[in-house]
Amino acid sequence: MASAKTCVVGATGAVGQEFLRILEQRDFPISRLRLLASERSAGKRIAFRGKDYTVELLTENSFEKGEIILSSAGGGTSKWFVPHAVKSGAVVVDNTSAFRMEPEVPLVVPEVNPHAIQRHKGIIANPNCSTIQMVVALKPLHDVSRIKRIVVSTYQSVSGKGAKAMEELRLQTKALLDEKPYPPKEFPWQIAFNCLPHIDSFTDNGFTKEELKMVYETQKIMEDDSIAVNATTIRVPVLRSHSESVYIETEKKITAQQAREILSKAPGVIVVDDPANNKYPMPVDSEGRDETFVGRIREDLFFPTGLSLWVVSDNLRKGAALNAVQIAEKLLQLGWS
Ligand code: A2P
Repeated sequence: MASAKTCVVGATGAVGQEFLRILEQRDFPISRLRLLASERSAGKRIAFRGKDYTVELLTENSFEKGEIILSSAGGGTSKWFVPHAVKSGAVVVDNTSAFRMEPEVPLVVPEVNPHAIQRHKGIIANPNCSTIQMVVALKPLHDVSRIKRIVVSTYQSVSGKGAKAMEELRLQTKALLDEKPYPPKEFPWQIAFNCLPHIDSFTDNGFTKEELKMVYETQKIMEDDSIAVNATTIRVPVLRSHSESVYIETEKKITAQQAREILSKAPGVIVVDDPANNKYPMPVDSEGRDETFVGRIREDLFFPTGLSLWVVSDNLRKGAALNAVQIAEKLLQLGWS
């Protein structure tokens, strides 16, 4: 694989830090690295592969032809800087929702639709964290018997909202245990010892934007607009890794045992499904891991083609940084320079 000038936008954030860990762990071939963020952290030093890098201010003129930009600095920031980066001849793998539903922008999960990368015009969108882990688990089943309907409820960790939200959960938990007040800042309500059925903003149809991302991104990545997705997304007081209760209806019956066999051969999936020994996927076990874990696979008691699954993955890794780095690796394999 050739090496690439590489740039991380939002390098000081929760996903940005994970980008750096993953680039290091996967030995991503970098010819030159730059770390960008806002004026709040410009000048800060960050270590990478034993060398110190200075965080630079993101500007419209930050980019160069041939550069690969891994970006996670919020949707507003992406909307502003990405067109400038593309004009410079760089390619942006963008982790925000800014461009995901633009028809000409590929939305890619390498285990599901790697072919879409080839038609990029300078932007490749990294899907929403909850969508990524769900499609990694469902595509192998969809390939065997088309999925007609998905009903999903998520249990999403606070790291999906960034580093400050993780700090809020830690400090609020401690404050409440010490019987002290800790008013919410990052969340609309108390997150410690609580669940919030509210991620991203509400839309006119009663669903939140996070829920609608799961609907439309799933259809786009699976390249099947007829899949009927109903999502309820919940923020829970977990620091890292999202869990999902997923119910699917398939065209032909897939038994629970067949599903276990299909998924145990699927790329990026590990089946943990041994209820007799209390073995099932949990967020604490998937933290820091690359795979999507699937368990609690059950056939519906009443509906012959219904199947329930419990899907867990580290939202900062497969749900964000790892998926983006895998896309960048594919770009290099395709000869990007
Ligand atoms: P900064 O440290 O300068 O605030 P998280 O999702 O964990 O909150 O992280 C968000 C990341 O996006 C941080 O690295 C943050 O940098 C960066 N960021 C936010 N707004 C901007 C901006 N306008 N320009 C560049 N980087 C930004």
